[in-house]
Amino acid sequence: MKFKDLLIEKCDGITTLTINRPQVLNALNSEVVGELECALCELDLDSAVRAVVLTGAGEKAFVAGADIKEMSQLSAFEAHDFARRGQHLMLLINRMRKPIIAAVNGYALGGGFELALACDFIYASEKARFGFPEVGLGILPGFGGTQNLTRLIGPNRASELVFSGRIITAEKACAWGILNEICAADELLAKTLVTAREITGKGELGVAYAKDAIASGMDMTKEDGFRYEASLFGVLFSTEDQREGMGAFLEKRAAEFKGK
Ligand code: CAA
Repeated sequence: MKFKDLLIEKCDGITTLTINRPQVLNALNSEVVGELECALCELDLDSAVRAVVLTGAGEKAFVAGADIKEMSQLSAFEAHDFARRGQHLMLLINRMRKPIIAAVNGYALGGGFELALACDFIYASEKARFGFPEVGLGILPGFGGTQNLTRLIGPNRASELVFSGRIITAEKACAWGILNEICAADELLAKTLVTAREITGKGELGVAYAKDAIASGMDMTKEDGFRYEASLFGVLFSTEDQREGMGAFLEKRAAEFKGK
């Protein structure tokens, strides 16, 4: 399928998905939210795709938030609907089988920060900036930010960021556990792809089930999470990949996983 505001590049099982509205710092209008939903559903069902890297076009921004011009015209009912659609996209990312890494190349504000937080983890350029400016617009983060940020860094730090609308540097975001790695701007994509390649070299089913255990476990008690992890662990012992992975280790050779 062709998309108006998304660029899709596939190479060796890794798809780089670029949000391409640089003239408005890649702001998310309802059309882009819909395109992202469609593209990610397609990629998740495509057996040739093993991992996704999500980034923004241009030098300045990953995504500078939901599109304020479009939002300024919404009624209360439409705003509720828009938030639910955005949240649906974040949950879709969270529930995808394929790992998805955010490569944050500049501003990740509001809905852009929420999009990065929904990914499995974040690599960022030294130029990246993170924040929730929504309270300065008289609203609050509406694409799951109050929930996902709080679960990631706890209520005190999340409250400080959300209530102040402050924009923080990549260093601060890294120190607070929001992102995994800071890269030079011109190395961000290459370094993110190295990690994506490391992941795609492993057993696809093991990675998919580990993602499910981590993502689903966040909404469970520890005991239920342990039980769920054990079920997935058991299921993996019915796969060719488990036999291949352990066989290769014992035979001192590289494993050739088939995702079966
Ligand atoms: N929506 C729509 N347009 C946006 C935008 C957004 N979120 N962010 C930037 N743009 C547009 C600007 O209006 C400008 O367009 P024009 O050239 O037509 O004027 C263009 O992108 C370039 O932006 P600036 O000239 O403002 O660039 P700058 O370098 O001076 O500032 C910035 C950069 C600090 C990121 C600034 O653009 C900014 O503050 N953007 C808004 C950030 C924001 O408030 N995001 C939260 C949105 S609300 C939200 O996301 C709700 C939610 O949770 C779902």
